[in-house]
Amino acid sequence: MTFGDYQLEIYFDGLRGVIPNHPMSFAELESRARAALPPSVWSYVAGGASDEHTQRANVSAFARWGLIPRMLVDGSQRDLALDLFGTRWSAPVFLAPVGVIGICAQDGHGDLATARAAARTGVPMVASTLSVDPLEQVAAELGDTPGFFQLYTPSDRDLAASLVERAERAGFKAIVVTVDTWVPGWRPRDLSTANSPQLRGHCLANYFSDPVFRAGLAVPPEKDLRAAVQHWVDVFSNPLTWGDLPWLRSLTTLPLIVKGICHPDDVRRAKDGGVDGIYCSNHGGRQANGGLPALDSLPAVVDAADGMPVLFDSGVRSGADIVKALAMGATAVGVARPYAYGMAVGGEEGVVHVLRSLLAEADLIMAVDGYPSLSDLTRKALRPVCNCPAPV
Ligand SMILES: Cc1cc2nc3c(=O)[nH]c(=O)nc-3n(C[C@H](O)[C@H](O)[C@H](O)COP(=O)(O)O)c2cc1C
Repeated sequence: MTFGDYQLEIYFDGLRGVIPNHPMSFAELESRARAALPPSVWSYVAGGASDEHTQRANVSAFARWGLIPRMLVDGSQRDLALDLFGTRWSAPVFLAPVGVIGICAQDGHGDLATARAAARTGVPMVASTLSVDPLEQVAAELGDTPGFFQLYTPSDRDLAASLVERAERAGFKAIVVTVDTWVPGWRPRDLSTANSPQLRGHCLANYFSDPVFRAGLAVPPEKDLRAAVQHWVDVFSNPLTWGDLPWLRSLTTLPLIVKGICHPDDVRRAKDGGVDGIYCSNHGGRQANGGLPALDSLPAVVDAADGMPVLFDSGVRSGADIVKALAMGATAVGVARPYAYGMAVGGEEGVVHVLRSLLAEADLIMAVDGYPSLSDLTRKALRPVCNCPAPV
């Protein structure tokens, strides 16, 4: 079985008159998700910072690079598996943290459905701090698939320690600290509807179930949601500095990965501070507009990481994008909005379909273009696309 065999499954189903329930193109996935989601959830998921230029640039950056096909290479066996942070991955692809994935599902339990999709596909999940169901329940659905816990570091250090301890106990295999979101970016789509899901009490289960958080409340969240949300507002934000890195490092013996790194100097400082992995991302253009597409930052980040694993996301919409990011040097590539849309369209099945489609497309590109193993995917496989006028 290869990932690419998903297409055979679909074609054979066609012989029985069964055609796919779920979209086969990103454009259709996006438009069906838009129709399926309540408008406030749609705009929160699809929207980004300011006029969303950086968000669009993340996507279009991939089109500026082309893979150079190589022929007469035996591509019949592809090898996408890798060992990362002490865990075995069947492919270098993971589910990036999406804080409202819970409410993208029809039943409101999208974190659990994502974990089940991870279990079924073997695609590791980075579970967000901002979830509808507590992290222990998310971890319990992962089966043998590795799960990482993404931490939004609260200003209350005891609460941060408690969340990390709980993640360790629940069986998460690494801690991913997001450092680009200590303050939310300027998001006109959400501002124009005055919509912040967390302020409405959504996706705060990890806080509401936490003994340290609860100890800071006069009455439990079940009795006074407003006060609990206010307490969350008070503790959510921690404007971390490099001076906090030793403390973060001291919180866990699990691999520590910093998410939101785009500058090579920041990579070197993080490395000096004892992290185990770098996560190159601009948060999908949701945080600051006017920046570089994340893909443009990737090569320098990889070079500065100097052998340390580099996770990457922002703008990944296809199997081709995954292959290009790997060729640029990413160790593994994160999918975010596409699976959120898959969740909106078809719940757990929709996420499984999106992941299997992305993996199949990546696998088949590696087969057709003559790069059958991950080690074949180097920068030599890529060339900038020339925008020169056609010769007359
Ligand atoms: C709706 C939404 C919620 C997100 N929530 C989180 C989060 O809780 N933690 C985090 O580190 N990143 C979060 N992200 C950022 C993603 O992990 C990822 O960096 C980004 O979406 C990549 O961009 P793309 O979806 O356009 O490819 C979120 C992204 C979206 C779209």
